[in-house]
Parts: sequence; C-alpha cells; structure tokens
Amino acid sequence: MSEKSSNTVWHNAAVSREMRAAVNGHKSTILWFTGLSGSGKSTLAHAIEERLFEMGMRTFVFDGDNVRHGLCGDLGFSVDDRSENIRRIGEMCKLFLEAGVISLTAFISPMREDRHRVRSLVPHGDFLEIYCRASVDVCESRDVKGLYKRARAGEIGDFTGISSPYEEPEAAELIVDTGSLSLEDSVDQVLQLLLQRGVITVPEMTDGADMS
Ligand code: ADX
Repeated sequence: MSEKSSNTVWHNAAVSREMRAAVNGHKSTILWFTGLSGSGKSTLAHAIEERLFEMGMRTFVFDGDNVRHGLCGDLGFSVDDRSENIRRIGEMCKLFLEAGVISLTAFISPMREDRHRVRSLVPHGDFLEIYCRASVDVCESRDVKGLYKRARAGEIGDFTGISSPYEEPEAAELIVDTGSLSLEDSVDQVLQLLLQRGVITVPEMTDGADMS
C-alpha cells in the first residue's frame, strides 16, 4: 500500500486506552474469527456480543457481508482484494482497540499472511485468533445462503473452499469446532478465553479488580 498522506502528524489523545478500560470495567481486544463461509463465524460473534453487551461491555461486530456493502464495497474476492479487505478491517480494529471496544470480526480471512499482518499491527496479546473449524462438507450441507450450490454450478468464481484456498490457522488462540458444537458451548469457550486472558472478569470479582 503506497503512503500518500505523508504530511500528517499523529495526535496523541489525552484519554488513553487504559483510562477507557478503567471506566468501562474491561479491557479492549480483537476477537478475530476465521473460517469458511457458513462455518458460523457471524452467528458466534453476534451471540458473544449479545452476552458481553448484557454484561454492560462495549462491543462491536464487524461482519464480512455488512462491511462489503460499505467500507469495502469496491472489493471483490480475488486474493489481492481479500487481502485489502482484511487490511482495512485490521486498521479499523486497531482504532477500536484504542477506543476501548471489544471488536469481534467475522471474515473468512483465508490467507495466513493477511491474518498475521493484522496480528502484528497491534500490541502482543491483543489479537485473539479464533478458528471456527467446520469442513467444506459441513458448510456445504448447511449452505445457508445457497452460495455453495451456485459456486459448484460455476456461477460464482473464486469461492473459498471450492475454487479459492483457505489456509487453516497454525497457532490460533482458540479452535472452536463449530461444525459439531452447539452455539451455547461455542459461546462458552470464547467467554472462557476472554476470562483467561483477563479481558473480562467474572462479575463477583469486578470489585477492586485490577483492570489496568
Ligand atoms: S474475505 O475472504 O475477504 O475475508 P469476507 O468474509 O469479507 O471474505 O466475505 C465473505 C462473504 O461474502 C461470504 O460469507 C459470502 O456470503 C460472500 N461471498 C460472495 N462471493 C464469495 C466468494 N467468491 N468466496 C467467498 N465468499 C463469498
């Protein structure tokens, strides 16, 4: 990506990320869901957001289908366009991290290198990669949007898992077997991860807990 905005100066905010975390009662982080179309990324991200929101936390879901209507509406599904899609989302999540928000992203993000680039954009430990593991067979049998059928019929090109690659994560923070687990169990696994990483604390422990 060429740098065209060179005559700009970074403005340091008086309100820091730590100050926001103290007020919010939780840390900010990026929960990066990756997996095939139909693997349940979006469903899982929204279900977790609901649980966190009910607990009074600041959250936002970035969803592949939604973002592609606006911010990334000019991009298609070639390897380069997908890469640019993920780059933009990554930069957006980085800003949300500063804003004190728990971002949940639901993008196929099929290439390891693209995911790694986002990981390296933010401080160590702030990018939690969650692999929604479901095979092509399972996703195709669900075919919620009817896209696999169309891809098999040759009506959609570069379709992930059929005519475009998906590179499985090698060191995801969490693998959720969304192909076989219930939604409830999947949500619990992710909430456990957030607790383990100290992003959130159980309500009883919140009093006097160190949220720095
Ligand atoms: S990514 O590869 O760039 O991360 P993203 O998650 O934004 O993809 O968009 C994937 C969604 O776009 C799918 O869930 C599906 O609804 C739709 N889609 C349309 N065409 C394709 C395609 N060729 N491959 C994968 N998904 C597609």
